[in-house]
Amino acid sequence: MKVLVIGSGGREHAIVDALSRSAKVSKIYCAPGNAGIAAHAECVPIKDTDVEGLKDFALGKGIDLTVVGPEASLSAGVADVFRAAGLRIFGHSAAATRIESSKEFAKQLMAKYGVPTAAYRSFSDFGEALEYVKRRPLPAVLKYDGLAAGKGVVIAGTMEEAEAALRSMLLDHSFGQGRVVVEDFLEGPEFSFMCFVSGDDVYPMPLSQDHKRAFDGDLGPNTGGMGAYTGLPFITDADREFAYQEIMCKAASGMVSEGCPLCGVLYGGLMKTADGIKVIEFNARFGDPETEVVLPLLDSDAFEVFDAVASGRPVEDLRWSGDVTIGVVLASKGYPGHYEKGFPISGLDGLDARVYHMGTALRDGGYVTNGGRVLMPVCRAATLSAARDRVYAAAAGIVCNNLYFRTDIAHQAI
Ligand code: AMP
Ligand code: GLY
Repeated sequence: MKVLVIGSGGREHAIVDALSRSAKVSKIYCAPGNAGIAAHAECVPIKDTDVEGLKDFALGKGIDLTVVGPEASLSAGVADVFRAAGLRIFGHSAAATRIESSKEFAKQLMAKYGVPTAAYRSFSDFGEALEYVKRRPLPAVLKYDGLAAGKGVVIAGTMEEAEAALRSMLLDHSFGQGRVVVEDFLEGPEFSFMCFVSGDDVYPMPLSQDHKRAFDGDLGPNTGGMGAYTGLPFITDADREFAYQEIMCKAASGMVSEGCPLCGVLYGGLMKTADGIKVIEFNARFGDPETEVVLPLLDSDAFEVFDAVASGRPVEDLRWSGDVTIGVVLASKGYPGHYEKGFPISGLDGLDARVYHMGTALRDGGYVTNGGRVLMPVCRAATLSAARDRVYAAAAGIVCNNLYFRTDIAHQAI
């Protein structure tokens, strides 16, 4: 089988890695891919949002299955265009991707189908939004309803902060003409629950936890994620069963009822509050960096799983290792703010870890840094402490004078 993977980060490297272990797969392409992915797949320079270019490529090469990484590709309609051309694709329609791209759509879905989440209202009028915030307890959570480059969520501890954020979003239109969702502040540990979903059929993956802040102790600015692990001790089997039935399955069947069934990954960003497990957000795709720690635990054939979901067949064989994993992100100094690129990287050979490339390029035959998040070593072991010792030994073996990493990944668990 010939497979095309769309995307260019560590998540896509992990997808390519899982597919390369499949006996069914003879050739993997990745568009556009990155320097590390190029070791396992043929990278083709087509942008992940160039849906016509991707479709023409897939038709021209006789691709049997396409697996989509980024939300931007899904929102651009890649799955709709591929299916209309008779191509098999693992990824939701643009309509179904609204579960991620529109906070208001997601909140309405949850309200209608009884999926637990923070109480909310949505507004386009500044005055009405401000009145509502005044009547609710602080802090207030304000979410711009639309694309905001990761800056669309403000947790306002004071009325002044809330007013300034609403002013920026609804009067100054800093991100555009979107509405704002105002929701109650929830507290508790956050975790990520990804499921393969095909219509009403929901197949769970191991739970994981991301580390969004840049520095140790969960301090510093928000990032795309500085590390992740599986094997969360604070989530019981009963919690997981509740999250599966009452959140993931209900959301999937709600999407069927709404006429936009899911076909790919549903990612629940969940929080264990004193009042039970609630949804913080849904994503319509594999998480990054969660995928890098979850897919290495897949013991069954990844192609079979993706292909079954893409074709609406039941997934017959889905086995996960009982091991756990930890992955540590090596990021460019300065990330998530300004950073420089092009620093040489060495020491990658012979490391006792899977090393996923998030943002590297090749220069004069060697790897150089080429993004904010650059590399992610991942180790799998029977216990988190064993995985942690190994992954930090691997991180220490990577030589580059412009990278930093957190030293406390999985601190909530170990
Ligand atoms: P989101 O983009 O919706 O994932 O929000 C980004 C981050 O803001 C989340 O990962 C949470 O840490 C935090 N957050 C979002 N909504 C809430 C909420 N209702 N209560 C507390 N924290 C929240
Ligand atoms: N790790 C969070 C995300 O993928 O959105």
